Amino acid sequence: MSATTAAPATGVYNDKVVRQFAIMTVVWGVVGFSVGVIIAAQLAWPELNFGIEYLTYSRLRPLHTSAVIFAFGGSGLFATAYYVVQRTCQTQLFAPALASFTFWGWQAIIVLAAITYPLGYTQGREYAELIWPIDILVAVVWVAFAIVFFGTVGTRKVRHIYVANWFYGAFIIAVAMLHIVNNIQIPTSLTHSYSVYAGVQDAMVQWWYGHNAVGFFLTAAFLGMMYYFIPKQAERPVYSYRLSIVHFWALIFTYMWAGPHHLHYTALPDWAQSLGMVFSLILLAPSWGGMINGIMTLSGAWHKLRDDPILRFLIVSLSFYGMSTFEGPMMAIKTVNALSHYTDWTIGHVHSGALGWVGLVTMGSLYYLIPRLFGQKQMYSVKAIELHFWVATIGIVFYIAAMWIAGVTQGLMWRAVNPDGSLTYTFVESVKATYPFYVIRLLGGVLYLAGMCVMAWNVWKTATQGKVTPVAIPAPAHA
Ligand code: HEM
Ligand code: HEM
Repeated sequence: MSATTAAPATGVYNDKVVRQFAIMTVVWGVVGFSVGVIIAAQLAWPELNFGIEYLTYSRLRPLHTSAVIFAFGGSGLFATAYYVVQRTCQTQLFAPALASFTFWGWQAIIVLAAITYPLGYTQGREYAELIWPIDILVAVVWVAFAIVFFGTVGTRKVRHIYVANWFYGAFIIAVAMLHIVNNIQIPTSLTHSYSVYAGVQDAMVQWWYGHNAVGFFLTAAFLGMMYYFIPKQAERPVYSYRLSIVHFWALIFTYMWAGPHHLHYTALPDWAQSLGMVFSLILLAPSWGGMINGIMTLSGAWHKLRDDPILRFLIVSLSFYGMSTFEGPMMAIKTVNALSHYTDWTIGHVHSGALGWVGLVTMGSLYYLIPRLFGQKQMYSVKAIELHFWVATIGIVFYIAAMWIAGVTQGLMWRAVNPDGSLTYTFVESVKATYPFYVIRLLGGVLYLAGMCVMAWNVWKTATQGKVTPVAIPAPAHA
């Protein structure tokens, strides 16, 4: 379990901040999924806002997206990045006080988001809704994160920089750049500002940001997790290290150009839309290269999937990653997008990536991490991990299947025309046709949330029964 070996120890790892972020990942998971369940219920029964402005769908939706992406996903990424960079560099975190600052700063940002969104303070830019003073705090915390992470890499005791660190590093640099460029604003008051961009440039900058938030926040960083925790849990080396390097460079180069697929059939110049479409199609190759590299790491150890639920979380997450990175390029083809855009198909795509890939890989990695952080051999209940896996997977299938059917139905109904050129269906008829699928999606969401509650209980039990024991850093093998 621990990194304690026969070699003389050279200090202990700084795992306090890892523990803090890991616990908060679970807490924010429960909160973020609960808000998801509430807004899913509101879409089926709009009166569930009880006429209270703070609970309206428009205010809770950004609360959901921020809670799941930045609070749940973000805390999971901080926790694993700090753990992985120390283990693979065989050294302590650089600037531990700064690392502690990133924890408290990030939690403060989340709390501020949870206060300002229901009050209606927003920039109105999707995934970048925070008002400008909070944006500045985000930039400060992020720079601190970069100093801690790259400082640790810079003071490493081994020569090689393991590939997971490349993915985490790219994520940190890209998110800093995206956040700052997309949020250049002229403030008009403490809570309001105008973007310096206008018209279609504004839209392009926003979706360059939005798409790369998917590419770097929801993908590259979680690939860093994948490259560390799958080989660890499978007790096998990465299938092809060479492929992991090609995967890295191809992925980060290609993602940057694909943003215009969010703006098909808009005022954006046609050439830019086509560029976005072509790069999205190219993106299939590095995405699948990475997925294959992860899954094939199990070569010769497939039998482990039978009785290791943690490995199942990790491998099934990769299958969802493969699925959503096949679906995404298809949806980026303009003629397909003409059907899918504005429909629930997009929401199905989002959640096959979010619940299936981001959610499951985080949960699998935490199940590996939590016992090690609390001096235990394994989680309090392995049966509960098993239960979580099945409940979550069934929940995802309900969610995404319902949204695919709803989305294609909506797309087809909206474009159906009578021989005289009039529309076959009114909009309300398409809403009525969608209704049963909203209820099924809600059921899927409730299952997914239930799985997370089981995890929270299991983590609580493991943490309270465990004992925090410092883990010694082994001396570098060839120092
Ligand atoms: C219990 C689990 C969840 C439920 C019930 C849920 C439900 C919802 C609902 C109802 C919406 C609004 C859909 C619409 O506007 O038509 C939404 C949007 C969204 N959710 Fe979730 N969600 C869950 C988990 C997650 C997770 C874990 C993530 C990410 C890691 C996520 C990311 C998003 C994103 C990015 C959007 C915006 C999609 C878009 O604008 O196209 N969700 N979710
Ligand atoms: C090769 C990889 C991918 C490509 C080419 C791709 C492409 C697309 C396309 C074409 C859309 C629809 C845009 C629209 O009609 O408005 C979309 C939406 C979206 N995708 Fe993907 N996708 C990929 C992978 C992923 C993954 C792995 C995730 C999540 C982890 C994800 C999250 C999202 C989100 C959140 C949206 C909704 C954005 C919004 O409108 O708010 N995508 N993607």
